[in-house]
Amino acid sequence: MNNSVKAVILAAGKGTRMKSETPKVLHKILNKTILGYVLDAVNATGEVAENYVIVGHQAELVENFVKENYSNAKCCLQSPQLGTGHAVYQAYDSLKGFDGEVVILNGDIPLITPETLKEFIAAHREHKASLTVMSAIFNDPSNYGRIIRDEKGSVKAIIEEKDATPAQKKIQEINTGVYLLNWKDMSDAFLHLDSNNAQGEYYLTDIVKWAIANGLKTEAYVLKNNEESFGINSKIQLAQAGKILNKRTLYKLMEDGVTIVDPDTTYISCDTEIGADTIVYPCTYIEGKNKIGKDCKIGPFARLRGDVEIGDNVKIGNFVEVKKSVIKSNTNVSHLSYIGDSELGSGVNIGAGTITANYDPISKVKSRTVLEDGANTGSNTVLVAPVTLKENAMTAAGSVVSKNIEKDALAITRAPLRVISGWVSRLKKHD
Ligand code: UD1
Ligand code: CA
Repeated sequence: MNNSVKAVILAAGKGTRMKSETPKVLHKILNKTILGYVLDAVNATGEVAENYVIVGHQAELVENFVKENYSNAKCCLQSPQLGTGHAVYQAYDSLKGFDGEVVILNGDIPLITPETLKEFIAAHREHKASLTVMSAIFNDPSNYGRIIRDEKGSVKAIIEEKDATPAQKKIQEINTGVYLLNWKDMSDAFLHLDSNNAQGEYYLTDIVKWAIANGLKTEAYVLKNNEESFGINSKIQLAQAGKILNKRTLYKLMEDGVTIVDPDTTYISCDTEIGADTIVYPCTYIEGKNKIGKDCKIGPFARLRGDVEIGDNVKIGNFVEVKKSVIKSNTNVSHLSYIGDSELGSGVNIGAGTITANYDPISKVKSRTVLEDGANTGSNTVLVAPVTLKENAMTAAGSVVSKNIEKDALAITRAPLRVISGWVSRLKKHD
């Protein structure tokens, strides 16, 4: 890994249009936060050593998320929020003396890809620029900052919509809000920002004018796929981004040999690996990080909730929910089951309606269930965790299993069946 880049991610804004108590960047797509997508894309470039996330609105929640999930990210508090330039300035002290490049981006663009960021960084280096702005050509550029170029095509400035003249408003090249700076050349820009503009904010966009006034080479890299700059400001946009992300994941899986019967009703997180010749049937919902092997059958109507590892030739059938479990090869969980915090060996057969009772609501403790190779459960077995079924052990239908079962044994808990002859007709005569 080349450690020459640090990232500054802006995430202090309120996100008013989400109409939510949750900070905007912590809203989720397939159980992964918007900010998680951005941080993962940045980290996946393999260029970035450290991330600074600028937090403000509901700072504590965002900070906790970052702390818990990203060891190479730190948060910088921006309070009050005086604009995007002021936001980046909050990382100024942390970046003091840094001699590499700084990539700046908004924390609300989950569709940005590591490939594009890599190409953007490469273009900046190739041009030997001090500052590169990622631009895009939009049919409808309204509300974005416009890229102002001179007659030779060189970038001169970025003008915000609210400060633009009618002629400038017609420009279709917009600022995506992604920048790359040679920090040594550019850091002084943040000491010279002012708020003399229509919004009374310290605009990050003004660093372009500063660079040019100081004779520093400034370039624009034009984004090839506009959807990558798509920012989330509302629940509608959250759903739209989710559709795009899901489609990307499904297409990639299909290209790698996974059969997806109905992409329109299948949802798979981008952090799920699936082996070739596995078939995913309709109405399947897979979130979080998972690994599924080859030749499996998943769904229809299956739900994988994350931290699930499945071997080869495994069947996860209809109305089966699996969470935080390992399921080895050649095992079937075919109908109506809940498998949580479990380890299923290979050649295991889970009878219809079998569930793991893994959660104690009093102690709030989740316990593990282990089924060793070849174990079988009869229909409607309740496995009360912590519990282990040793190799080839079986349970009878309807059993509640609350202690470990030895190898090759049958576990049965069942009230004896009574047959009362003539009971129905006797009852009817009474009426
Ligand atoms: C900004 C750009 C605009 C660009 C657009 C792309 C400026 C002045 N304008 O406009 O040229 O086309 O992004 O989406 O930069 N934020 C903070 N602290 C603040 C203000 C904002 O952290 O004080 C964060 C927000 O949470 C958000 C990002 O910065 O993630 C962008 O802020 P926003 O107010 O949406 O900027 P725009 O007005 O859209
Ligand atoms: Ca915005």
